[in-house]
Amino acid sequence: MYPFTPGSYAPRNGWYVASFIKDIGEELLERWILNVPVVLYRKENGAAVAIHGRCPHRHFPLGKSQRVGDAVQCGYHGITFNSAGKCTFVPSQSNVPGVYSIPTYPLVERGLWAWIWMGDPEKADESLIPTLEEIDFEIPGLIPYPFETMEVDGRYQLLNDNLLDLSHLSYLHGTSIGTTTDAETPEVRDVNERRLSSRRIMPNTDMTPVLMEITEYRGKIDRINGMDFYAPGFHAGLGDFQVSEGHERAGEYLSKGRVWHAVTPSTMYTSLYFFAMTVSDLKQIDRTKVIIKKVLDEDLLATIEIEKIVRRMGEAELPKELMIKSDQTAVMGRRIMQALMDKEKAEAQA
Ligand code: FES
Ligand SMILES: [Fe+2]
Repeated sequence: MYPFTPGSYAPRNGWYVASFIKDIGEELLERWILNVPVVLYRKENGAAVAIHGRCPHRHFPLGKSQRVGDAVQCGYHGITFNSAGKCTFVPSQSNVPGVYSIPTYPLVERGLWAWIWMGDPEKADESLIPTLEEIDFEIPGLIPYPFETMEVDGRYQLLNDNLLDLSHLSYLHGTSIGTTTDAETPEVRDVNERRLSSRRIMPNTDMTPVLMEITEYRGKIDRINGMDFYAPGFHAGLGDFQVSEGHERAGEYLSKGRVWHAVTPSTMYTSLYFFAMTVSDLKQIDRTKVIIKKVLDEDLLATIEIEKIVRRMGEAELPKELMIKSDQTAVMGRRIMQALMDKEKAEAQA
């Protein structure tokens, strides 16, 4: 499916964010991931688990059922599954057929996020999850904060494309976090087997509209903006703003922050989007939320509107995209994803 080859949807062997850790508790939390219903909850001993979300009897959603201790009892006819997915109780009969067990999924809590592995559990290697060090999670004076969980009416790769091409800051975010310099500045890329990294170094440049809102300073700034993509769905970004040379406050940070975007395929044409960012002062959260909402709404608008065009025209009728120079990182990101899917397909046929 667009923008991948026909039949390619998403890599399954990879860690995706299923939820912010803070949202997993005693209550059953239903999430669709890779077109599969999943139920997340925390057992009585505090461990978070992820089990399949469809009752094998009549397809009732287990996420809309109830807990009995650490087990989940289907809300329709009462068949019960433990947290390991084993069926433990069928109300109308004394035997419990083995076929009634349901899948469970490896789930790892790291940083702000609960990471799920929906593919072959044998391949669920925790070392593939970005480390906190890699994503600059622990910077003294900066507090990581889980801002938003969004269900987006658009296929996940539209969000990945968006995050892999920050030239859009100049236009989509021209009244918030971008200036025309973003699109004019060439990227510096760095690629290794774990991540695809891009930076825009913008010395002696104009302030962004949001920066003008949050600081009194007026003048030129040195700005670094960038993003590191960890396939299949995590983007760790940075935005540093310093007073430029020639000013008495030269070198002072006006703002410094890390942002983390997690993009998870939900259904075929919808996505889960988890946005987190550092704050230097928790008292500023409400004000920051207002600024962030405007920026995220701009990205969601692009995603949702492109999805509409693709769906309405139909993929068979959709003309090929016309690429420009600034697409290079996004194209590399798509190639990484396509290669992961091709590898899985080849392994499944072997
Ligand atoms: S649908 Fe779950 S017990 Fe019948
Ligand atoms: Fe954006």
